[in-house]
Amino acid sequence: MCGIVGYIGKRDALGILMDGLHRLEYRGYDSAGVAVVDGDLTVTRASGKIAELEKKVSQITHHGTTGIAHTRWATHGPPVEKNAHPHRDCSGRLAIVHNGIIENHAELRRDLQAKGHVISSETDSEILAHLIENEMKTQGDLSTALRFAVRRVRGTYGVAVVSMDEPGTICVARLGSPIVIGVGDGEMFVASDASAIMRYTTRVIYLDDGEMATLEAGNYRIRSLDNLPVAKEITEIEWSEEDVQKNGQPHFMLKEMLEQSEVLRNTMRGRLDADNGTAILGGLKDASERLRELDRITIVACGSAYYAGLVGKYMLEEYAGISVTVELASEFRYRKPVLTNTTAVIAVSQSGETADTLAAVKEAKMKGILTLGIVNTVGSTIARETDFGVYNHAGPEIGVASTKAFISQCVVFALLTLFLGRQRQLSLVMGKRIVEELKRLPELVDRILDGRELVRDVAEKYSDVTSMIFLGRKYCSPIAYEGALKLKEITYIHAEGYAAGEMKHGPIALVCPELPSVVLCPKDSVYEKTKSNIEELRARGGKIIAVTTEENDEVHEFAEDVIEIPKTLEMLTPILAVIPLQFFSYYTSVKKGIDPDKPRNLAKSVTVE
Ligand code: G6P
Repeated sequence: MCGIVGYIGKRDALGILMDGLHRLEYRGYDSAGVAVVDGDLTVTRASGKIAELEKKVSQITHHGTTGIAHTRWATHGPPVEKNAHPHRDCSGRLAIVHNGIIENHAELRRDLQAKGHVISSETDSEILAHLIENEMKTQGDLSTALRFAVRRVRGTYGVAVVSMDEPGTICVARLGSPIVIGVGDGEMFVASDASAIMRYTTRVIYLDDGEMATLEAGNYRIRSLDNLPVAKEITEIEWSEEDVQKNGQPHFMLKEMLEQSEVLRNTMRGRLDADNGTAILGGLKDASERLRELDRITIVACGSAYYAGLVGKYMLEEYAGISVTVELASEFRYRKPVLTNTTAVIAVSQSGETADTLAAVKEAKMKGILTLGIVNTVGSTIARETDFGVYNHAGPEIGVASTKAFISQCVVFALLTLFLGRQRQLSLVMGKRIVEELKRLPELVDRILDGRELVRDVAEKYSDVTSMIFLGRKYCSPIAYEGALKLKEITYIHAEGYAAGEMKHGPIALVCPELPSVVLCPKDSVYEKTKSNIEELRARGGKIIAVTTEENDEVHEFAEDVIEIPKTLEMLTPILAVIPLQFFSYYTSVKKGIDPDKPRNLAKSVTVE
C-alpha cells in the first residue's frame, strides 16, 4: 500500500526512481511523484498511474543524483495531484514521501497552521514535511529534525526525506510501515519493498520499528529514535530479477497462476518425509516441544490469506485433532481473545506487512502466546516478529488479487497438519498417504492449467451478469468465499460466497434465472448434500456452473456448464478447486476490459488499518 523508492549515489537518480516506481506500482496506483535534489529541489507529481507521471518527467531537463519517489494508495484526500507525494514544506527546501497513517494529523495541522504554516494538500502526510521544517529551525540537521518530528506523530510511518540544505543525504525512519535500505557500491537505495531496488543491489538492510537511517552515497548510519547507534546485518535477497517480470504474459496475474505447479514444488521442496509420513519444517524445529503441548490454534489473517486459514482449520482439526479458530486479524486485535499458554497464534500473510495481521501478532506476543508465521516475503515484518515460521517460497506475487500465494498457503497448512498430526493422532499410514498425494499435486495442477481455455469460454459466456453466487461445503466452503472475493476484486461483479448449506437461510431469496451460481461439488464426503443444494437452486430457475471431479457424468444433468478438476484426497481438493475460479475471474476481467493486475481501489499490501 503506497510505495517508496529513493536513491543517492553517482548516477542519474530520476531513471532509477522511475524504474523503482514501475516495480512498486502494484502497491498503489492512485497518483505518483518524484523529487530530485540538484542544487535545487524539483518535485514532479501526477494523478493516475505511473505512465501519467512518466509523461511529465520526460519534460525535465535538469537531473540530480539524489531523489525520492512515491506511488500512492489514497487514505486521506482524493487521488488528485495536490495530494500526491512528495510533499514539500512551506519554504520548498525539503520534500518527504510517507507510507502509513498519521492518526493525530488534524491536531498537528491546527497547531502548524497556528504557527503560520500553509498546508496545501488534504493528506495526513504533508504534516510531516512541516513538522520537519519546524524542527530544522532549532535542530540544524535533517536527521535530528526528522527524529524530533516523528516523535510528535501518533500512528504509523515509513518516511523518506531530502533537503536542498543537505543535498548529499536521504533520511528515513520507520514505525509500522516497512523501509528497506539497499547497499550498493558507492551508492545507496531505499524502498518500501525490496522488489523496487533488487535490480541494482541484492544486499539489503531491513529497518525495524523505531529505527531511522541517514544515507549518503557510500555510507549509512542507523540509529534508534532515541538516538542510539544500532548495528544491523546485511541480508542477501534470494529472489531474482526475473521473478518480478511478466515473462511474456500480458498480466502478472496470469503469469502467477501459470506458475502454480512450480510454486507448489517450491513450497514442498525438501519438506516431505515419505518414510515417516510427516513434514520437515526447519523454521519450526526449535519449537517442536512447545508445539507438542498445543491444544488450540488461532489463525489470524486478512483477505485471501484468511480463507487459506479456513482451509487450514479443516485440515488441522480432521488430521491433527487440534481445535482451531480462524479470525479476521482486524477483529482479533480489538476484542479480548481468550488465549491460554497451550494456544498458538498463526499469522498467514503473503506480504508479511499487512497492518492488521501484524497488530494481531503483536497483541498475541504481548500476552505471551506462541506466535507462528506462514509468510511469503522473506525478511518481512511478520516473518521477523513471529517466534517461528514457515516460508511459502512462492516467489514474489505482484498481481493484486492473490493466486499462487493462496494455494501455497493451503499447502503449508497441509505440511503443518502432517507435522502436528504425526506428533499426535495421525497414523503413519495416513501420513504416508497424504505425503504421496501432496507429491502428485503439482502434476494435477498442471492438468488444470492446461484446461484453462474451457474456463475462459465459460467466463466469457457469463461476463455480462451483474451478480453471482459461489457455493461449497466443508473443505470447499472457503473456496466458495475465495471465488467470490476474486470475482469482486478484479471484475467488479457483485458476488457472494456461501457455505452451500447456509443458502436456504437467506441468500436463496436472490436466486432467479439472471443469477448464476458457481457450485463446488467434487465427489467428496459431502457430495450428495451439495447435490441437494443444487436441486434447490434449480427449482428456483438458477443456472449452475459446476466445478466437479473428473468422471462425474451425472453432473451434466443439472449444470449448464461443467468444469472438471482431477481427483485427490478431500483435504487437498480445495487447492485444486480454487484454480478454475481464479481463471474464471481473470478471463471475466479481461473480457470486461479491466486491468486484473491493478483493480480499482485496491492495493497489494495493506499497511494501514
Ligand atoms: C490485500 C490483497 C489480498 C490479500 C490481503 C492480505 O487485500 O489485495 O489479495 O489477500 O491483502 O494480504 P497478505 O499480504 O497479508 O496476505
